[in-house]
Amino acid sequence: MILERPNVINLRKLQSQLGGLKNRPDINELSKMIKMFQLYQAGQKEISTKLENLDSEFQVNYDYNPIHHMESRMKDMQSLLQKADRKGYELTVESIEKNIFDIAGIRVITNYVDDIYKIEKMLKKQSDVTLLRRKDYVKHPKTSGYRSLHIVVKVPVFQAEGPIDVPVEIQIRTVGMDMWASLEHKLRYKTNVEKKLVDKYGDQLQEYADELEKIERGMQDIHQSLI
Ligand code: GTP
Ligand code: MG
Repeated sequence: MILERPNVINLRKLQSQLGGLKNRPDINELSKMIKMFQLYQAGQKEISTKLENLDSEFQVNYDYNPIHHMESRMKDMQSLLQKADRKGYELTVESIEKNIFDIAGIRVITNYVDDIYKIEKMLKKQSDVTLLRRKDYVKHPKTSGYRSLHIVVKVPVFQAEGPIDVPVEIQIRTVGMDMWASLEHKLRYKTNVEKKLVDKYGDQLQEYADELEKIERGMQDIHQSLI
């Protein structure tokens, strides 16, 4: 049995770690933020469960699983506050809820390109899931070559005093797109790589992104002809 140990946040310790911020939130606001975090985590669990159920249902109906695997992550409080500070938002629960949508995140890795849209469609059909934002970097890749479908949905979390809608960011991409993004992320965020190499590998990765797209489409066609 694996026991999940929740991240225990120590209020005073957290406050002392936020020294570099322009408008450091007071302890009262920080404590409200911790409550907000718990709510967002509950929303993330709701969506993960929905996705797992949809994948199982698909398996029964079509003898095939669109989801290869899923990863979920909560932005940690420090990086959330740093992001809000960097973007010039007020460091209050109200302002963070209005402006930042990737506090709770789920990455869904699919087997094939069409599965990305199948999953989006199945999720949107659920009566308690509402689409808030959508960026299709599969149809419109970034100049880096990055491909992925980013959606933000809201889902109700049932609290003692009633339901509260919570946004969850879902990045949906194929195994190939995910492999590409991990390597490209390493290239961009490693600070000790020479600029010349970053440019060279960046160009190479951009070409590979196009090649991967062709290969994944071709493999999808083979897969479909075998069903
Ligand atoms: P922020 O969330 O504030 O960064 O802005 P945004 O919502 O406009 O961002 P975007 O839709 O571009 O997606 C942000 C996330 O997508 C990042 O945290 C990465 O995980 C991923 N991402 C976006 N662009 C790239 C890219 O060029 N390369 C890689 N490897 N990942 C990317
Ligand atoms: Mg974002």
